[in-house]
Amino acid sequence: MRHLLSLLRSGKGLRHVPVVNADSAEFSLRVVLRGLLGGPVDVSGDHCPVSLRPFVLGVRLAAENADQGALARRVWLEIYPPGSETMPLARLALKSVGLLPLKQGALHLFEVARTLNRCLPRPTLWLRYLLAWQNARTAARRGDALRMSARDLRALNAYYIVARPVFLVGARHDERVDLFPMDLVSALSSGEYLLALRATNPDVALMESSGRIAMSSAPAELLDTVYALGNRHRHPIPDLRDLALPISTSPLFGLPVLNQAGLVRELTVERVERIGSHVLFITRIEHEAGLAGRQLAHLSGTYIEWLRHRQRGCEVLAPL
Ligand SMILES: Cc1cc2nc3c(=O)[nH]c(=O)nc-3n(C[C@H](O)[C@H](O)[C@H](O)COP(=O)(O)O)c2cc1C
Repeated sequence: MRHLLSLLRSGKGLRHVPVVNADSAEFSLRVVLRGLLGGPVDVSGDHCPVSLRPFVLGVRLAAENADQGALARRVWLEIYPPGSETMPLARLALKSVGLLPLKQGALHLFEVARTLNRCLPRPTLWLRYLLAWQNARTAARRGDALRMSARDLRALNAYYIVARPVFLVGARHDERVDLFPMDLVSALSSGEYLLALRATNPDVALMESSGRIAMSSAPAELLDTVYALGNRHRHPIPDLRDLALPISTSPLFGLPVLNQAGLVRELTVERVERIGSHVLFITRIEHEAGLAGRQLAHLSGTYIEWLRHRQRGCEVLAPL
C-alpha cells in the first residue's frame, strides 16, 4: 500500500538498468536514419548522446549523405532488433537543432520531437509513460537537478535500447585528480571518440584544462563501487589510494586507470562544445590496449522486458 501511494505521488522513472555487456545478438542492434533525400543511412556506428536537458543526440553523416534538406525536413532514427529489417523496436522523430563540422562530414544535432517505443504492449507502455510523466513533474520536489522533461525521458529510454557500456574515466589537472563513471561515450566510425559530461560536474574542468583523458572498462563485478564513484563527483577524492579499487597509471599520460585485465584507452581532447546541460568532448584515441571482458553497461528496462517476453535475455545486475 505504501509503495502504491509513493508510486502515485512521485511516479516512476523509465529506467535504464545495469547489465553485463555482451557480444551477442541482443546487443547488436541496427540504427538507421531515415528521411534524407538520398535514402536511409545505417548510422549504427555514428550516433551519440550530446545533452540530457534538452535531450540532444548527434548523428554523424558523411558529406555525401548530408543533403541540405535534412536540416529543414523531419528525419527519424529507427532502432532494429537483430534479424529484423522491417519492424523497428523504436522510432524517434527528430528535429534538427544544429551541426558540428567534423574532420569527415559533420555531427548533426537533433532533439526528439516524438518517440514510438514498440518494446511493450500499448496499455503497459502508456501506464509507464503516465508514471514517468508524474516522475518528471515531481523532479524539482525530489531534488533532481537535471529535471528532464517527460518527452525527453521517453526518448532517452528508447535510445538506451542500444546498450551503453560504462567506463571509469581518469583525469588530472594540477593537484586535482579524479576517477568517475561515464556511459555517455561513443566512438564514431570516422575515428573521433565523444564524451558528454554534465556542465555542472567539476571533472569538466580537469578534462578541459589538461586536454587528456584515460578510460578503463568498468567491470560488472564492481557495480556498487562504480555507482558510489558516480555519486560523489562533487567532492573529488584527495587521494585515489583511499578507494577500494586496484588503481595504476595509464602508459602514455600517467592518468588513473583500473589495474585489471580490462580495456584501457587514452584520449587527447581536440574540441570542447557546450550544448544544453552537457559539455561534449571531441577526442582522438592515442592508445588502446586490453579487452573489455565482463563490462558493466546500461540498457533500457523496456527493451529487457521485450527480450524476456521472447525467452531471451541478458545478465541483469539489478531488479527491473
Ligand atoms: C555508472 C554511471 C555512469 C554515468 N555516466 C555519466 C555520463 O556519461 N555523463 C554525465 O554527465 N553523468 C554521468 N553519470 C552521472 C554523474 O556521475 C552524476 O552522478 C550526476 O551528474 C549527478 O549530478 P548532480 O549531483 O550534479 O545532480 C553517471 C553516473 C553513473 C553512476
